[in-house]
Amino acid sequence: MSAAFYVCLVFWCLQTNAVAAELAPPENLTLITLNTNYTLSWDWDQSFAEGHAVNFTTQYVAKFKLKSKRKSPVWETACEKTSHRSCDLTKFNLYYLGIYVLRVQASVNGRVSDWMMKEFCPDKDAAVGPPSRVDLSPAGSGLDIIISDPLTSTNSSMKDHIPDLNYHILYWERSVDPQALEPQTLASKATVVTLSDLKAWTWYCVSVQSRYDFFNKKSSFTSPHCMQTEGAIPWWQIFGYFLLFLVICFLLVPVSSFWFFKTVKATFYPSNQLPPHFQYLCDSSESDIPRLLTPDSDSELLCDKFDRLSKTTGPGNPHPSP
Ligand SMILES: *[C@@H]1O[C@H](CO)[C@@H](O)[C@H](O)[C@H]1NC(C)=O
Ligand SMILES: *[C@@H]1O[C@H](CO)[C@@H](O)[C@H](O)[C@H]1NC(C)=O
Ligand SMILES: *[C@@H]1O[C@H](CO)[C@@H](O)[C@H](O)[C@H]1NC(C)=O
Ligand SMILES: *[C@@H]1O[C@H](CO)[C@@H](O)[C@H](O)[C@H]1NC(C)=O
Repeated sequence: MSAAFYVCLVFWCLQTNAVAAELAPPENLTLITLNTNYTLSWDWDQSFAEGHAVNFTTQYVAKFKLKSKRKSPVWETACEKTSHRSCDLTKFNLYYLGIYVLRVQASVNGRVSDWMMKEFCPDKDAAVGPPSRVDLSPAGSGLDIIISDPLTSTNSSMKDHIPDLNYHILYWERSVDPQALEPQTLASKATVVTLSDLKAWTWYCVSVQSRYDFFNKKSSFTSPHCMQTEGAIPWWQIFGYFLLFLVICFLLVPVSSFWFFKTVKATFYPSNQLPPHFQYLCDSSESDIPRLLTPDSDSELLCDKFDRLSKTTGPGNPHPSP
Protein backbone atom coordinates (compact mmCIF):
# COMPACT_ATOMS: atom_id res chain seq x y z
CA MET A 1 0.00 0.00 0.00
CA SER A 2 2.78 2.42 0.96
CA ALA A 3 4.68 1.42 -2.17
CA ALA A 4 1.68 2.30 -4.31
CA PHE A 5 1.37 5.60 -2.47
CA TYR A 6 5.02 6.51 -3.16
CA VAL A 7 4.67 5.59 -6.80
CA CYS A 8 1.67 7.90 -6.99
CA LEU A 9 3.53 10.66 -5.18
CA VAL A 10 6.50 10.37 -7.55
CA PHE A 11 4.19 10.58 -10.55
CA TRP A 12 2.39 13.58 -9.06
CA CYS A 13 5.73 15.30 -8.38
CA LEU A 14 6.93 14.64 -11.93
CA GLN A 15 3.73 16.05 -13.32
CA THR A 16 3.87 19.24 -11.26
CA ASN A 17 7.52 19.61 -12.21
CA ALA A 18 6.63 19.32 -15.88
CA VAL A 19 3.91 21.91 -15.43
CA ALA A 20 6.30 24.24 -13.63
CA ALA A 21 8.85 23.76 -16.38
CA GLU A 22 6.35 24.55 -19.11
CA LEU A 23 7.09 27.67 -21.11
CA ALA A 24 4.45 29.96 -22.50
CA PRO A 25 4.02 29.26 -26.20
CA PRO A 26 4.43 32.01 -28.80
CA GLU A 27 1.34 34.20 -29.26
CA ASN A 28 -0.30 36.33 -31.91
CA LEU A 29 0.92 34.38 -34.92
CA THR A 30 0.52 36.59 -37.99
CA LEU A 31 1.55 36.25 -41.60
CA ILE A 32 3.15 39.14 -43.44
CA THR A 33 2.62 38.33 -47.09
CA LEU A 34 3.06 39.86 -50.50
CA ASN A 35 2.52 37.79 -53.64
CA THR A 36 4.49 34.60 -52.84
CA ASN A 37 6.64 36.07 -50.10
CA TYR A 38 5.32 34.65 -46.81
CA THR A 39 6.78 35.54 -43.42
CA LEU A 40 5.32 34.20 -40.18
CA SER A 41 5.84 36.38 -37.13
CA TRP A 42 4.78 36.07 -33.49
CA ASP A 43 5.01 37.58 -30.01
CA TRP A 44 6.45 35.97 -26.92
CA ASP A 45 6.39 37.10 -23.32
CA GLN A 46 10.04 37.74 -22.51
CA SER A 47 9.48 37.34 -18.72
CA PHE A 48 9.43 33.54 -19.17
CA ALA A 49 13.04 33.58 -20.36
CA GLU A 50 14.37 34.41 -16.88
CA GLY A 51 17.54 35.86 -18.29
CA HIS A 52 18.20 32.97 -20.68
CA ALA A 53 18.31 33.16 -24.45
CA VAL A 54 15.06 32.13 -26.11
CA ASN A 55 14.97 30.32 -29.41
CA PHE A 56 12.07 29.40 -31.67
CA THR A 57 11.41 26.54 -34.03
CA THR A 58 8.90 26.88 -36.89
CA GLN A 59 7.44 23.93 -38.78
CA TYR A 60 4.76 23.41 -41.41
CA VAL A 61 2.75 20.58 -42.91
CA ALA A 62 0.03 20.29 -45.54
CA LYS A 63 -3.28 20.19 -43.70
CA PHE A 64 -4.60 17.07 -45.40
CA LYS A 65 -1.66 15.08 -44.00
CA LEU A 66 -2.84 15.82 -40.44
CA LYS A 67 -6.09 14.05 -41.15
CA SER A 68 -4.39 10.88 -42.30
CA LYS A 69 -5.14 8.09 -39.81
CA ARG A 70 -2.60 5.64 -41.15
CA LYS A 71 0.63 7.45 -40.41
CA SER A 72 1.64 10.40 -38.29
CA PRO A 73 2.37 13.54 -40.33
CA VAL A 74 5.91 14.60 -41.08
CA TRP A 75 6.40 18.22 -40.08
CA GLU A 76 8.92 20.11 -42.17
CA THR A 77 11.17 22.44 -40.22
CA ALA A 78 11.36 25.93 -41.73
CA CYS A 79 13.39 27.71 -39.07
CA GLU A 80 15.24 25.79 -36.36
CA LYS A 81 16.15 27.39 -33.03
CA THR A 82 16.38 30.92 -34.30
CA SER A 83 16.31 33.88 -31.96
CA HIS A 84 14.17 36.13 -34.29
CA ARG A 85 10.46 36.31 -33.77
CA SER A 86 9.76 35.62 -37.42
CA CYS A 87 10.42 32.97 -40.03
CA ASP A 88 10.57 33.49 -43.80
CA LEU A 89 8.67 30.67 -45.53
CA THR A 90 9.17 32.04 -49.05
CA LYS A 91 11.86 29.61 -50.13
CA PHE A 92 9.72 26.54 -49.38
CA ASN A 93 7.55 27.27 -52.43
CA LEU A 94 4.27 26.46 -50.71
CA TYR A 95 1.65 25.44 -53.23
CA TYR A 96 -0.50 28.53 -53.83
CA LEU A 97 -3.81 26.65 -53.62
CA GLY A 98 -2.68 24.44 -50.73
CA ILE A 99 -3.81 24.67 -47.10
CA TYR A 100 -1.02 24.42 -44.56
CA VAL A 101 -0.73 24.30 -40.81
CA LEU A 102 2.18 26.25 -39.36
CA ARG A 103 3.42 25.86 -35.78
CA VAL A 104 5.97 27.61 -33.58
CA GLN A 105 7.59 26.51 -30.35
CA ALA A 106 9.73 28.48 -27.90
CA SER A 107 12.72 26.91 -26.17
CA VAL A 108 14.71 28.30 -23.24
CA ASN A 109 17.64 26.57 -21.71
CA GLY A 110 16.54 23.11 -22.85
CA ARG A 111 12.88 23.60 -21.89
CA VAL A 112 10.30 23.78 -24.60
CA SER A 113 6.85 25.33 -24.85
CA ASP A 114 3.72 23.90 -26.47
CA TRP A 115 3.35 24.44 -30.16
CA MET A 116 1.19 27.34 -31.29
CA MET A 117 -0.56 26.64 -34.58
CA LYS A 118 -1.91 28.70 -37.43
CA GLU A 119 -3.62 27.66 -40.61
CA PHE A 120 -2.45 29.28 -43.84
CA CYS A 121 -3.77 29.13 -47.39
CA PRO A 122 -1.80 31.42 -49.73
CA ASP A 123 -4.65 31.71 -52.23
CA LYS A 124 -7.01 32.93 -49.51
CA ASP A 125 -4.65 34.70 -47.11
CA ALA A 126 -1.66 36.07 -49.03
CA ALA A 127 -1.80 39.69 -50.12
CA VAL A 128 -1.48 40.50 -53.81
CA GLY A 129 0.99 43.16 -54.87
CA PRO A 130 0.51 46.10 -57.24
CA PRO A 131 1.67 45.78 -60.87
CA SER A 132 5.44 45.39 -61.00
CA ARG A 133 5.59 48.13 -63.62
CA VAL A 134 3.34 50.63 -65.39
CA ASP A 135 4.41 52.35 -68.61
CA LEU A 136 2.61 54.97 -70.64
CA SER A 137 2.97 55.74 -74.31
CA PRO A 138 1.11 58.32 -76.37
CA ALA A 139 -1.36 56.96 -78.91
CA GLY A 140 -2.55 59.96 -80.91
CA SER A 141 -4.72 62.00 -78.60
CA GLY A 142 -5.03 58.96 -76.30
CA LEU A 143 -2.66 57.02 -74.07
CA ASP A 144 -1.60 53.38 -74.03
CA ILE A 145 -1.14 51.97 -70.53
CA ILE A 146 1.22 48.99 -70.44
CA ILE A 147 0.88 47.05 -67.18
CA SER A 148 3.37 44.41 -66.02
CA ASP A 149 1.88 41.73 -63.76
CA PRO A 150 2.93 41.52 -60.12
CA LEU A 151 5.80 39.05 -59.74
CA THR A 152 6.32 35.99 -57.56
CA SER A 153 9.49 35.54 -55.53
CA THR A 154 11.00 33.77 -58.57
CA ASN A 155 10.05 36.64 -60.89
CA SER A 156 7.29 34.78 -62.72
CA SER A 157 3.87 36.36 -63.26
CA MET A 158 1.35 36.18 -60.42
CA LYS A 159 -1.20 35.34 -63.13
CA ASP A 160 0.25 31.82 -63.08
CA HIS A 161 -1.33 31.52 -59.62
CA ILE A 162 -4.28 33.90 -60.03
CA PRO A 163 -5.61 33.63 -63.59
CA ASP A 164 -8.47 35.99 -62.71
CA LEU A 165 -6.18 38.81 -61.62
CA ASN A 166 -7.44 42.12 -62.97
CA TYR A 167 -6.51 45.77 -62.81
CA HIS A 168 -8.28 48.80 -61.53
CA ILE A 169 -7.02 51.89 -63.35
CA LEU A 170 -7.41 55.45 -62.08
CA TYR A 171 -6.67 58.29 -64.48
CA TRP A 172 -7.07 62.02 -64.20
CA GLU A 173 -6.08 65.21 -65.94
CA ARG A 174 -3.09 66.83 -64.28
CA SER A 175 -4.18 70.24 -63.20
CA VAL A 176 -3.19 73.02 -60.83
CA ASP A 177 -6.80 73.26 -59.74
CA PRO A 178 -7.42 70.56 -57.07
CA GLN A 179 -11.18 70.74 -57.72
CA ALA A 180 -10.58 69.43 -61.21
CA LEU A 181 -8.98 66.24 -59.89
CA GLU A 182 -11.91 63.89 -60.32
CA PRO A 183 -10.25 60.61 -61.30
CA GLN A 184 -11.98 58.29 -63.68
CA THR A 185 -11.83 54.54 -63.21
CA LEU A 186 -11.53 51.61 -65.54
CA ALA A 187 -11.36 47.87 -64.83
CA SER A 188 -9.41 45.59 -67.14
CA LYS A 189 -7.99 42.09 -67.31
CA ALA A 190 -5.74 43.05 -70.22
CA THR A 191 -2.23 44.34 -69.64
CA VAL A 192 -2.40 46.87 -72.46
CA VAL A 193 -5.22 49.38 -72.12
CA THR A 194 -5.86 52.34 -74.40
CA LEU A 195 -7.49 55.46 -73.01
CA SER A 196 -9.02 57.08 -76.07
CA ASP A 197 -11.41 59.70 -74.70
CA LEU A 198 -8.66 62.14 -73.72
CA LYS A 199 -7.97 65.73 -74.71
CA ALA A 200 -5.11 66.34 -77.13
CA TRP A 201 -1.91 67.94 -75.86
CA THR A 202 -2.93 67.49 -72.21
CA TRP A 203 -1.12 65.96 -69.23
CA TYR A 204 -2.75 62.88 -67.68
CA CYS A 205 -1.75 60.77 -64.69
CA VAL A 206 -2.39 57.06 -64.20
CA SER A 207 -2.29 54.81 -61.14
CA VAL A 208 -3.06 51.08 -61.15
CA GLN A 209 -4.20 48.56 -58.52
CA SER A 210 -4.22 44.75 -58.77
CA ARG A 211 -7.41 42.98 -57.73
CA TYR A 212 -8.48 39.43 -57.08
CA ASP A 213 -12.22 39.61 -56.66
CA PHE A 214 -12.89 36.03 -55.51
CA PHE A 215 -11.18 36.63 -52.16
CA ASN A 216 -11.70 40.39 -52.39
CA LYS A 217 -7.97 41.07 -52.50
CA LYS A 218 -6.83 44.56 -53.45
CA SER A 219 -3.26 45.73 -53.71
CA SER A 220 -1.96 49.20 -53.07
CA PHE A 221 -2.03 51.61 -56.02
CA THR A 222 1.14 52.22 -58.00
CA SER A 223 2.60 55.71 -57.69
CA PRO A 224 1.12 57.97 -60.41
CA HIS A 225 2.73 58.02 -63.84
CA CYS A 226 2.05 61.12 -65.93
CA MET A 227 2.35 61.82 -69.63
CA GLN A 228 1.18 64.41 -72.13
CA THR A 229 -1.10 63.27 -74.90
CA GLU A 230 -0.30 64.21 -78.45
CA GLY A 231 -2.94 65.14 -80.99
CA ALA A 232 -4.29 64.14 -84.30
CA ILE A 233 -2.08 66.31 -86.58
CA PRO A 234 -4.24 69.16 -88.00
CA TRP A 235 -4.56 69.35 -91.83
CA TRP A 236 -2.89 72.77 -92.06
CA GLN A 237 0.14 71.35 -90.33
CA ILE A 238 0.39 68.49 -92.84
CA PHE A 239 -0.06 71.01 -95.66
CA GLY A 240 2.59 73.27 -94.11
CA TYR A 241 5.10 70.42 -93.87
CA PHE A 242 4.36 69.48 -97.49
CA LEU A 243 4.89 73.06 -98.64
CA LEU A 244 8.14 73.29 -96.71
CA PHE A 245 9.26 70.04 -98.32
CA LEU A 246 8.49 71.39 -101.82
CA VAL A 247 10.35 74.64 -101.15
CA ILE A 248 13.38 72.73 -99.93
CA CYS A 249 13.27 70.55 -103.03
CA PHE A 250 13.01 73.53 -105.38
CA LEU A 251 15.88 75.23 -103.64
CA LEU A 252 18.11 72.25 -103.22
CA VAL A 253 17.73 70.47 -106.58
CA PRO A 254 19.07 73.27 -108.83
CA VAL A 255 21.80 74.17 -106.35
CA SER A 256 22.96 70.62 -105.93
CA SER A 257 22.73 69.74 -109.63
CA PHE A 258 24.64 72.91 -110.53
CA TRP A 259 27.31 71.92 -108.05
CA PHE A 260 27.30 68.36 -109.39
CA PHE A 261 27.74 69.36 -113.00
CA LYS A 262 30.38 71.85 -112.06
CA THR A 263 32.35 69.14 -110.28
CA VAL A 264 31.94 66.67 -113.12
CA LYS A 265 32.98 69.24 -115.66
CA ALA A 266 35.99 70.26 -113.61
CA THR A 267 37.04 66.61 -113.37
CA PHE A 268 36.54 65.39 -116.95
CA TYR A 269 36.72 68.57 -118.99
CA PRO A 270 39.31 70.76 -117.29
CA SER A 271 39.06 74.35 -118.42
CA ASN A 272 42.83 74.81 -118.92
CA GLN A 273 43.68 74.44 -122.62
CA LEU A 274 45.57 71.61 -124.22
CA PRO A 275 49.11 72.30 -125.45
CA PRO A 276 49.02 73.97 -128.90
CA HIS A 277 50.53 71.03 -130.76
CA PHE A 278 47.63 68.80 -129.62
CA GLN A 279 45.09 71.35 -130.39
CA TYR A 280 44.98 70.92 -134.16
CA LEU A 281 44.00 67.31 -133.66
CA CYS A 282 40.78 68.48 -132.28
CA ASP A 283 40.33 71.47 -134.47
CA SER A 284 40.03 69.81 -137.89
CA SER A 285 38.51 72.62 -139.87
CA GLU A 286 41.81 74.32 -140.61
CA SER A 287 44.16 71.38 -140.56
CA ASP A 288 45.74 69.86 -143.60
CA ILE A 289 45.17 66.34 -142.31
CA PRO A 290 42.99 64.61 -144.95
CA ARG A 291 39.38 64.30 -144.12
CA LEU A 292 37.73 61.03 -144.96
CA LEU A 293 34.24 62.14 -145.60
CA THR A 294 32.53 65.35 -145.08
CA PRO A 295 28.82 65.47 -145.54
CA ASP A 296 29.46 67.50 -148.69
CA SER A 297 31.87 65.12 -150.37
CA ASP A 298 29.73 62.23 -149.31
CA SER A 299 26.60 63.51 -150.95
CA GLU A 300 28.64 64.48 -153.99
CA LEU A 301 29.93 60.97 -154.29
CA LEU A 302 26.53 59.46 -153.81
CA CYS A 303 24.96 61.75 -156.39
CA ASP A 304 27.71 61.05 -158.82
CA LYS A 305 27.24 57.36 -158.30
CA PHE A 306 23.52 57.67 -158.69
CA ASP A 307 23.97 59.64 -161.86
CA ARG A 308 26.25 57.10 -163.35
CA LEU A 309 23.91 54.32 -162.25
CA SER A 310 20.91 55.95 -163.86
CA LYS A 311 22.87 56.59 -167.06
CA THR A 312 23.77 52.92 -167.49
CA THR A 313 20.35 51.50 -166.81
CA GLY A 314 18.31 49.88 -169.54
CA PRO A 315 15.34 50.96 -171.75
CA GLY A 316 12.81 53.44 -170.58
CA ASN A 317 15.61 55.69 -169.55
CA PRO A 318 14.43 59.21 -169.96
CA HIS A 319 17.95 60.29 -170.83
CA PRO A 320 19.32 57.73 -173.26
CA SER A 321 23.06 57.70 -173.65
CA PRO A 322 24.41 59.03 -176.90
C1 LIG B 1 10.02 38.73 -48.13
O1 LIG B 1 9.66 40.01 -47.62
C2 LIG B 1 10.41 40.42 -46.51
C3 LIG B 1 9.88 41.78 -46.07
O2 LIG B 1 8.63 42.04 -46.52
C4 LIG B 1 11.87 40.55 -46.89
O3 LIG B 1 12.65 40.93 -45.79
C5 LIG B 1 12.35 39.22 -47.43
O4 LIG B 1 13.67 39.35 -47.88
C6 LIG B 1 11.47 38.74 -48.55
N1 LIG B 1 11.88 37.40 -48.91
C7 LIG B 1 12.26 37.10 -50.16
C8 LIG B 1 12.71 35.69 -50.37
O5 LIG B 1 12.23 37.89 -51.07
C1 LIG C 1 -0.71 39.73 -28.47
O1 LIG C 1 -1.51 40.75 -29.00
C2 LIG C 1 -2.31 41.43 -28.02
C3 LIG C 1 -3.18 42.42 -28.74
O2 LIG C 1 -2.44 43.14 -29.67
C4 LIG C 1 -1.40 42.11 -27.02
O3 LIG C 1 -2.17 42.73 -26.03
C5 LIG C 1 -0.50 41.07 -26.39
O4 LIG C 1 0.41 41.69 -25.52
C6 LIG C 1 0.26 40.28 -27.43
N1 LIG C 1 1.02 39.20 -26.83
C7 LIG C 1 2.35 39.31 -26.59
C8 LIG C 1 2.98 38.11 -25.98
O5 LIG C 1 3.00 40.30 -26.89
C1 LIG D 1 19.62 30.14 -29.62
O1 LIG D 1 19.90 31.37 -30.29
C2 LIG D 1 21.16 31.91 -29.96
C3 LIG D 1 21.25 33.21 -30.66
O2 LIG D 1 20.37 34.10 -30.11
C4 LIG D 1 22.26 30.96 -30.39
O3 LIG D 1 23.52 31.50 -30.06
C5 LIG D 1 22.05 29.62 -29.75
O4 LIG D 1 22.99 28.69 -30.24
C6 LIG D 1 20.65 29.11 -29.96
N1 LIG D 1 20.44 27.90 -29.22
C7 LIG D 1 20.33 26.72 -29.79
C8 LIG D 1 20.07 25.59 -28.84
O5 LIG D 1 20.44 26.54 -30.98
C1 LIG E 1 14.08 39.21 -60.07
O1 LIG E 1 14.31 40.41 -60.79
C2 LIG E 1 15.03 41.38 -60.05
C3 LIG E 1 15.10 42.65 -60.88
O2 LIG E 1 15.07 42.40 -62.23
C4 LIG E 1 16.42 40.83 -59.71
O3 LIG E 1 17.12 41.78 -58.96
C5 LIG E 1 16.26 39.54 -58.91
O4 LIG E 1 17.52 38.99 -58.68
C6 LIG E 1 15.39 38.56 -59.67
N1 LIG E 1 15.15 37.41 -58.82
C7 LIG E 1 15.13 36.17 -59.28
C8 LIG E 1 14.85 35.11 -58.27
O5 LIG E 1 15.34 35.90 -60.46
